[in-house]
Amino acid sequence: MMVKIAPSILSADFGRLAEQLGVVEEAGADLIHIDVMDGHFVPNLTFGPLVVRKCRELTSLPLDVHLMIANAEEHLEGYLDAGANYLCLHVEAVRHLQRALARIREAGARAGVALNPSTPPAAIEWVLSDLDFVLVMSVNPGFEAQPFIPASLDKISATRELIERRGAAAAIEVDGGVDADNAAELVRAGATMLVAGSAVFNTPDPAAAVRRLREAADGALRV
Ligand code: DX5
Ligand code: ZN
Repeated sequence: MMVKIAPSILSADFGRLAEQLGVVEEAGADLIHIDVMDGHFVPNLTFGPLVVRKCRELTSLPLDVHLMIANAEEHLEGYLDAGANYLCLHVEAVRHLQRALARIREAGARAGVALNPSTPPAAIEWVLSDLDFVLVMSVNPGFEAQPFIPASLDKISATRELIERRGAAAAIEVDGGVDADNAAELVRAGATMLVAGSAVFNTPDPAAAVRRLREAADGALRV
C-alpha cells in the first residue's frame, strides 16, 4: 500500500495559502491536512468551515480535516458541506462515536477517529467496522512543531495489530512531530498516512520537504 503524505496547513503562511497549496500539490502531496481547533478541547484556536471551503477551491487534493473540537458530532455538517473528504474526530471529544462515524460515511467522506497520546487503541475496537482510518496523535494536539512522543511508535504497532486481529482494513495516520528522519520507522510500524506541518512549511523549500518525506516513506516499504 502506498503511504499518503499529508502536509498540514497549520504551519503554512496564510498570506500565501493558495501558492503554498499549489507547491505541495505539485511536489506530490496526497492530501491536505486541516487542523480545526476550538480553544476548548485543545488550548489553541484556528479556523472552521470557511477555511475548509476556501481550501476546497484552491486545491484538487482531498481535504483531510482533523477536528480538535468539543462536541464534534454537533459540528459535522459544516465540514462535510465545506468539502471535507476525510473527516476525523477525537474519541475523547464525542459522546456517540458510532453515530458520528456513520454520518460521515453516509455523507460520502472517509471517517476517522483520532486518539490522544494517552488514549489506548482499544478505544476504537468496537467501531473498527465503522471507520476508514485511525489517527494516532504523536503529540498532544494543539500546536505545530512539538517533539514526537517516543511511545507513539509502539502504539502504532499496537493499533496495527488490533486492526489485523479483527480483520479490519483501517488506515493508520500519524500526526505530530513527523519528519523525514522518523517517517521510515513510522511506516514500518504500520503508518499509512503521514501528517507533517512544520517539517514541510517551516522549511525554505516545502516542495523538497514533501519529496524527502515521500522518499523516506517509500524506502521503508521497499525493505
Ligand atoms: C497538532 C496538529 C498537527 C500539526 C502537526 O495538534 O494536529 O496536525 O499540524 O504539526 P507538526 O508536524 O509540526 O508536529
Ligand atoms: Zn492534525
